[in-house]
Amino acid sequence: QVDKYLYHMRLSEENLMDVSRRFRREMDKGLGRDTNLTASVKMLPTFVRSTPDGTESGDFLALDLGGTNFRILLVKVSGNGKQNVEMENQIYVIPETLMRGSGTELFDHITECLANFMEKMGIKEKKLPLGFTFSFPCRQTKLDESFLVSWTKGFRAGGVEGKDVVGLLRKAIKKRGDFDIDIVAVINDTVGTMMTCGYDDHHCEIGLIVGTGTNACYMEEMRNLELVEGDEGRMCVNMEWGAFGDDGSLEDLRTDFDREIDAGSLNPGKQLCCCRLPPPTHPPFSASSSPPPAPYSSPYPPPSSFPCSASAPPLPPPSSGSAPLTTSTSSSPPPLALCSSFASDTTSPPPSPTYICSTHPPSSASSPSSFYFPLLLILLLLLFFLLHLLFARRLHKMVRLLVPDCDVRFLRSEDGSGKGAAMVTAVAHRLAEQHAERQRVLDALRLSREQLLEVKRRMEGEMKKGLARDTHESATVKMLPTYVQSTPDGSERGDFLALDLGGTNFRVLLVRVRSGKRRSVEMHNKIYAIPQEMMQGTGEELFDHIVHCIGDFLEYMGMKGASLPLGFTFSFPCHQTRLGEGILLKWTKGFKATGCEGEDVAVLLKDAIHRTEEFDLDVVAVVNDTVGTMMTCGYEDHLCEVGLIVGTGTNACYMEEMRNVELVEGDEGLMCVNMEWGAFGDCGELDDFCTEFDRAVDECSTNPGKQRFEKMISGMYLGEIVRNVLLDFTAKGLLFRGKLSERLKTRGIFETKFLSQIESDRLALRQVRSILQHLGLISSTCDDSILVKEVCTVVARRAAQLCGAGLAAVVDKIRNNRGLQELSITVGVDGTLYKLHPHFSTVLKETLRDLAPQCTVTLVQSEDGSGKGAALITAVACRLKEGKK
Ligand code: BG6
Ligand code: GLC
Repeated sequence: QVDKYLYHMRLSEENLMDVSRRFRREMDKGLGRDTNLTASVKMLPTFVRSTPDGTESGDFLALDLGGTNFRILLVKVSGNGKQNVEMENQIYVIPETLMRGSGTELFDHITECLANFMEKMGIKEKKLPLGFTFSFPCRQTKLDESFLVSWTKGFRAGGVEGKDVVGLLRKAIKKRGDFDIDIVAVINDTVGTMMTCGYDDHHCEIGLIVGTGTNACYMEEMRNLELVEGDEGRMCVNMEWGAFGDDGSLEDLRTDFDREIDAGSLNPGKQLCCCRLPPPTHPPFSASSSPPPAPYSSPYPPPSSFPCSASAPPLPPPSSGSAPLTTSTSSSPPPLALCSSFASDTTSPPPSPTYICSTHPPSSASSPSSFYFPLLLILLLLLFFLLHLLFARRLHKMVRLLVPDCDVRFLRSEDGSGKGAAMVTAVAHRLAEQHAERQRVLDALRLSREQLLEVKRRMEGEMKKGLARDTHESATVKMLPTYVQSTPDGSERGDFLALDLGGTNFRVLLVRVRSGKRRSVEMHNKIYAIPQEMMQGTGEELFDHIVHCIGDFLEYMGMKGASLPLGFTFSFPCHQTRLGEGILLKWTKGFKATGCEGEDVAVLLKDAIHRTEEFDLDVVAVVNDTVGTMMTCGYEDHLCEVGLIVGTGTNACYMEEMRNVELVEGDEGLMCVNMEWGAFGDCGELDDFCTEFDRAVDECSTNPGKQRFEKMISGMYLGEIVRNVLLDFTAKGLLFRGKLSERLKTRGIFETKFLSQIESDRLALRQVRSILQHLGLISSTCDDSILVKEVCTVVARRAAQLCGAGLAAVVDKIRNNRGLQELSITVGVDGTLYKLHPHFSTVLKETLRDLAPQCTVTLVQSEDGSGKGAALITAVACRLKEGKK
């Protein structure tokens, strides 16, 4: 007989797998904007976006309503790094009449209890932050605003459903007027439990309650949570899983007992998944024909009506509704057990597991004078304990069975969810303070429109100074003539060698230019490494290495010993008096090979070629990468008259009127000017926009005081700026839990590619975290990832805006040169930062539109590098030379 009844309650592994699948579907439904309305598992956003990181501190109040007991807590958190939490808590009775009375009375009562507690603790004068654990299904709109959807678990106070419970509490406090508090957060008990455990174990990301009711919460990725705006980070979702099955999806699994209990509950047809206790007077093994159980006031009957209550520890007489039952500190026995089906507070009797009640009828168990009473009590407690253990064991086993790929650890909350409410409040408090401090720091890196216009104005001034003979010497933006005056006309042909030195890669190229109908450019290239020792050793070593690479390339191409015209893309500031010459003014971007500055790099290259005596080359053109890029793009698009590089370094060139290029004789036509704008700011023009981080990066560079504009924009330095901001945040305890790791102290760990990856929209925070871990920042949390991303965004945005301000000055100058109202122009762009960064070009274009509204600028990305352009310039020079012959 018994077996027959029990049979229906047994679920096979297959059944459970199936339930699990159905559950998963319901979760997805609950998360979706369009499907949420009809989902039974509501997946409610809680606006709790962060778990504790151990640095929280202060005194916090918590109310815990909705479990077996109504509890008020004072939680003292000391942020001394020892994660010390002290708690005072007190349980108050909520009379049954109030649970089902009017909402106003219920909230007046809660407020009265709070006043009583604060009085006792001597904190009535203080306005402390308070967290409110309100364990009922709520529609939450903010961390401190939550509308009760419907009462559960025996509560039915009128006029509360549909109302903001924080608002009701605030109103009740105001009405009293004898104390004030700052209600920071309202949370569900699952969230509180997760936060309580999360304080000690930072991996705790799920909260589970199996007590008076059952429910769970977990940290969900924001991008999956369609009910809340934003894709960044995570938010805790209160699943309200008790309602799973309310749409009939559990019908095949429900037994007669389940139906009977549901029918007799306060909310028939609802919370079908919720763990329920049968009414005490109604043994569960009764046949389905027995009369339905009478509705009971609370799923855990109040002590007086509990069948085994006589066996519970004596209670102090409840003199008034607000009379405290106990006061306990954190050292007191665990008030609530996570993963347990029973609340285990010391003061309330353990609700008897279902079968105990059936084997020990209330009549015999409830006689306090019974001889067997102590024995029975021990037995009951033992059984309770055993069941408790069994439940947890089964639960763990099942989870392992159903999700073998997940390593789930169960941590029993020893401190109840009230502590968690205080923790949420503490976290919110910490976050607010830290947010303000972080924004203060980051604001220095945010530039206003006025500031950007000022940058543009100053750049225009420096450009004029650089072009004019009298002021050229003192100008920071050197505006160097390049002797490139014409663009390819299609008649160029032949094979050319090209070198490309000064970007991320050193490249040797063979460029085959065809003319006429077969007009095309074919390229072969090989990348070679330039080791740091070469960049910073002697010039002779550097150029010998370059020539060695050329030799290797010719051999690789089967052209050993060939003598070809060569175009040399040399991406450093060079003074030129003709195309085939380039006197290095100063090294930039980490190069500092000795004996090169002040020398003609074409001569240095030829000398090195002669030293090898293996081949000969005719260095026809020395070309800056900006110029090479402009030419590469100009071959396809004749409107391209500007070249821009945003890579390891940054620079621009453009076609200037010869009459303005005062350093070169002649007024006719145009000449390309290599601006060398990276040096803008070297005489203090940018000082009022520089931050302490820019200064730190500059001071530690190979060329302090030089290339200040470049150091605020280009890939070689952005990572360092970010690292310096992170160092500052960590030192202030705003990041990485204040732990300064050796890795973070290491210069250069943040490469441009990481910056670009971190800012990618499609990258989940988990991946940001794994980048940080890859960088050796192992202990980073999810919040750390959000912050690192924000820093990257601010730093890269400023870079793109500054670059935009510079480019706005250039295009407006071209427009003014030509006396045009409107100008349409193309800019050829190259550089890893520009190409790989997900937002750089967007911000750059945005800024350009804003600062140079009379110019329509098309940015064309160079796909072929500047080597092709250098070869084309060489080809043009060769054509012109031929023509002269
Ligand atoms: C390359 C060009 O594509 O981009 C180089 O061929 C240029 O001449 C470089 O210097 C700039 O970008 P990065 O990121 O390599 O410095
Ligand atoms: C540096 C160089 C410049 C080059 C730029 C981009 O600023 O000085 O010549 O064009 O980097 O590579």
